[in-house]
Amino acid sequence: MNYAIVTGASRGLGASAAQEFISKGIPVITVSRNENSALKQAADNAVISYTHYSCDLSSAQQVQSVFANICEEVFQHAENVYVINNAGVIEPIEVAGELDTSLVQTNIQVNLTAPILISNIFLQKAKENSSRVIIANVTSGAGERPIQGWSIYCSTKAAVNMFTMTAGLELESNGDSSKVIAFSPGLMDTDMQVTIRSSSEEAFADIDTFRNYKESGSLRSPDTVAGALVKLVLSENLENGKIYKVNDLL
Ligand SMILES: NC(=O)c1ccc[n+]([C@@H]2O[C@H](COP(=O)([O-])OP(=O)(O)OC[C@H]3O[C@@H](n4cnc5c(N)ncnc54)[C@H](OP(=O)(O)O)[C@@H]3O)[C@@H](O)[C@H]2O)c1
Repeated sequence: MNYAIVTGASRGLGASAAQEFISKGIPVITVSRNENSALKQAADNAVISYTHYSCDLSSAQQVQSVFANICEEVFQHAENVYVINNAGVIEPIEVAGELDTSLVQTNIQVNLTAPILISNIFLQKAKENSSRVIIANVTSGAGERPIQGWSIYCSTKAAVNMFTMTAGLELESNGDSSKVIAFSPGLMDTDMQVTIRSSSEEAFADIDTFRNYKESGSLRSPDTVAGALVKLVLSENLENGKIYKVNDLL
């Protein structure tokens, strides 16, 4: 049996990815603070197993306990386990020197610490249970170039890329059947872009460019991007440690 675990599935790309797994008949477990009731309905209609775990991913304690329960549910029957580390936050949008300590900590915990801890838990359990886990860490082009006002987001996504490349290298050297990749989804029409557009010009120098992306219809639908993501993780020829970009897949 196969399972998909999607973090941040209450809206945006995560909701679309969970929906895509349900459409493909794959049991889904979602993890976020809020539940998306449309996903439960879609799974009920398709008679596909669906469970939501409420979890604040900025708490390492909650991550450890919730994912221990998820592993118990999944590894009794699992052959392939697809893990989409998608949950993310953009804030603080502010220049260095004006950063809010608590927002900095939350960003690092949600965007970086949680995907590392979740990957670690699943890779360990996969080994113990002779199962195969395929982990996709959702990253951003912001992890590859500096953007004024986004120093924390750029830093956490750059670190996610490096974690992915390193873990992928280790799996490859060990001849492990599990995979860790990163997926860069490009610009999408989600709440994260609403937050970006509503920041201030003092904090975010490129705000007009991002307002134009929305006005000119340049933001992709998260459904389109999720289609490419799910097709990618279900494909058999994934390259361990690679940072896949949606523009190369659509
Ligand atoms: N949108 C873009 O243009 C864009 C571009 C490049 C990369 N990305 C990346 O794509 C991914 C998805 O982004 P999106 O645009 O779909 O974002 P979004 O619409 O803002 O959704 C973010 C998701 O993350 C979850 N989340 C946030 N904080 C959380 C916390 N403390 N604990 C648990 N879950 C939390 C939210 O769930 P709850 O609030 O219910 O907890 C929500 O489901 C992110 O990793 C983002 O960095 C987005």
